[in-house]
Amino acid sequence: MSAKKSARSSHAEKGMSQAARYFKHPLALVESDEVGEGTRVWAWAHVMDGAKVGKDCNIGEHCFLESGSSIGDRVIVKNHVCIWEKVTVDDDAFLGPNMIFTNDPNPRSGFRRPFVATFVRKGASIGAGAIIVCGNTLGEYCSVGAGAVVTKDVPDYALVYGNPARQHGWVCRCGLKLEFTDDKARCSCGRDYISDGMAIRPIGAEGDCMEPQLNADERG
Ligand SMILES: CC(C)(COP(=O)(O)OP(=O)(O)OC[C@H]1O[C@@H](n2cnc3c(N)ncnc32)[C@H](O)[C@@H]1OP(=O)(O)O)[C@@H](O)C(=O)NCCC(=O)NCCS
Ligand SMILES: [Zn+2]
Repeated sequence: MSAKKSARSSHAEKGMSQAARYFKHPLALVESDEVGEGTRVWAWAHVMDGAKVGKDCNIGEHCFLESGSSIGDRVIVKNHVCIWEKVTVDDDAFLGPNMIFTNDPNPRSGFRRPFVATFVRKGASIGAGAIIVCGNTLGEYCSVGAGAVVTKDVPDYALVYGNPARQHGWVCRCGLKLEFTDDKARCSCGRDYISDGMAIRPIGAEGDCMEPQLNADERG
């Protein structure tokens, strides 16, 4: 077999196995060859070449994932979310419907400057319609309320909302709000936390954390 033919058939095999490994709605446009196993891409979503998508993600209708963006495993991307170049979303994050990322702090037609990165850390949730000004990091398991405008880094486990977003307490890994007494909190899900006044961290058996369950019927 010629080298050219061999390259062609290996490409075809790769494409076939990828098609079998994840679900692409017939009306979705997936140009990336880096979409993980078990991921579902729903109608009218567009995943550009060079966009990275992990395993078991859900990409809702009308989403757009640009070249140079990256999302980890088990990320839920609700409908109408654009993930631009330089946006990195870690495992288990939740991007609410119509939330907005940015990547240019001083946009101006005709002037091209390097884009500015945004990071969404593991397990973080972003509420519907929230706007994330670029250059900021949303910490692990934080929650951003609906309609918030995030202009600063968000600490791990922090609950923020409003415009500009301000911190209004802490949330558990499961997403529920925590109430602290004497620097300790127990969530109704059973997880325990300790606070040093500036930050909180889980204590006890961390390994027993509830794994997120994707709803098989979820369509964006
Ligand atoms: C922020 C949130 C988690 C609630 O947090 P909370 O601290 O329990 O807030 P409460 O409901 O106790 O409300 C406390 C105050 O904050 C206000 N508030 C609540 N959510 C707010 C928000 N997103 N933005 C601005 N203010 C908000 C309430 O009106 C209330 O104000 P008041 O004290 O003047 O009456 C919730 O409102 C939210 O935004 N969830 C995200 C929902 C979402 O987008 N889901 C996406 C998937 S569908
Ligand atoms: Zn909890």
